[in-house]
Amino acid sequence: MANDVQKLQAIISHCKEYGFIFPSSEIYDGLSAVYDYGQYGSELKKNIRDYWWESMTRLHDNIVGIDAAIFMHPTTWKASGHVDNFSDPMIDNKDSQKRYRVDHLIEAYADELEAEGKKEEADALLSAMDRLLAASDFQGLKKLIEEKKIKCGISGTSNWSDVRQFNLMFSTQLGSVTDEANEIFLRPETAQGIFVNFQNVQKTGRMKIPFGIAQVGKAFRNEIVARQFIFRMREFEQMEMQYFIKPGSQKEWYEYWKKDRMQWHLSLGIPLEKYRFHDHVKLAHYADAATDIEYEFPMGFKEVEGIHSRTDFDLKNHQEYSRKKLTYFDTELNQHYLPYVIETSIGLDRTVLMILSEAYLEEDLSTTEKKDSRVILKFPPKLAPVKLAILPLIKKDGLPEIAREILGACRAHFRCFYEEKDTIGKRYRRMDAIGTPFCVTVDHQSREDQTVTIRYRDSMNQERIPITRIREIVEKEIF
Ligand code: GAP
Repeated sequence: MANDVQKLQAIISHCKEYGFIFPSSEIYDGLSAVYDYGQYGSELKKNIRDYWWESMTRLHDNIVGIDAAIFMHPTTWKASGHVDNFSDPMIDNKDSQKRYRVDHLIEAYADELEAEGKKEEADALLSAMDRLLAASDFQGLKKLIEEKKIKCGISGTSNWSDVRQFNLMFSTQLGSVTDEANEIFLRPETAQGIFVNFQNVQKTGRMKIPFGIAQVGKAFRNEIVARQFIFRMREFEQMEMQYFIKPGSQKEWYEYWKKDRMQWHLSLGIPLEKYRFHDHVKLAHYADAATDIEYEFPMGFKEVEGIHSRTDFDLKNHQEYSRKKLTYFDTELNQHYLPYVIETSIGLDRTVLMILSEAYLEEDLSTTEKKDSRVILKFPPKLAPVKLAILPLIKKDGLPEIAREILGACRAHFRCFYEEKDTIGKRYRRMDAIGTPFCVTVDHQSREDQTVTIRYRDSMNQERIPITRIREIVEKEIF
């Protein structure tokens, strides 16, 4: 792969060609920053979602899951601060009319500087930007963009408007009457569904602090600069967990969750050097500490997950706006208090892109006699869309019948794929391209001694095994 931009392009094409991800409503030329998951993409996404869900809820005694509605009472978003604060500083290029998020515009320029070998200048620029963003100094941000002569990618000019705030929530109308009173928002984060249900869950589940509530679901943001495939979308999925704790213990639990979440990332088989923490200088309106777990995507290190110490900001505001008491009675301390919260918030689609970026490999298999190559998705077997391909060598002589018996014995336990068409070599390559870790081939010998050839995706090694061992070999790797 010549460079990383090409790698991202290659992944996008591969995803489309092999049924992972398509542009939404493509027959109408697509919809910007909205994507559909195809037959293998939806399986991959489901496996990641299940893996996160199980590790949060099943493997922690004190974390339970919920599934709250996307539509919420509009006051929710007043209380959460999203109506007033969920906006980004934007700037328009007056010649192209193109609108940019200020931080993205400056970051893209810093990337260019770094690519030219001017790392120090790039770092200084980013620090200056962080300082100005933290101080909400919009004039200073505009001055910085002008001083650096940052240009619009479309018009090529530096003819910029002033910097202004732009709210990222989508709104719609509830019911048939169109007026402001019926305006509701598509949730921009799943977290608020957890906060408004804090007492329902605590009381009905008899939960004792510390405890967590996890949720997976869609979120919507009217992103201005929506690019880089499924990295930044307007409709996306989040996997969030709010951990309710005693006030004053937030530092300790913040560190705990930083460690726990990094362990989860490493359990995906991705090496530590592909991750880094990025502590926030400019904190979101609800946080007293925040860090991002960044992964090295083909386009550089970028956020996959946020860990936020949200204090009692959300519960306090919901209590005030709803006029319902949301305090918790701590029987050990014999005291009522509003719990503090540590949040872990990971984007499911971004995790899909991370797993794809890590798995995608163009392998040169040329020998002195013959040029050859393959594209392979080296998914961890537990995340692979298909676990086992069952391939009769030919379509006759009783081989399909044996293969279908194997399919019948395995399909209740994990996802299998049956295929008779094309040469075995072509079928192996197709399975490599969708990341299937195991293929078994049924041949004439199978009729004699009830054995098959199992082929391992990564090593391409093959061995003869009894049919009765197939399930055990696959299950050993996928759980
Ligand atoms: N509840 C906290 C919260 O929403 P965030 O940092 O805005 O925090 C959390 O979002 C995660 O959601 C991000 O780390 C990212 O993985 C994902 N995410 C946010 N905006 C996204 C977008 N437009 N497209 C895809 N994923 C997004």
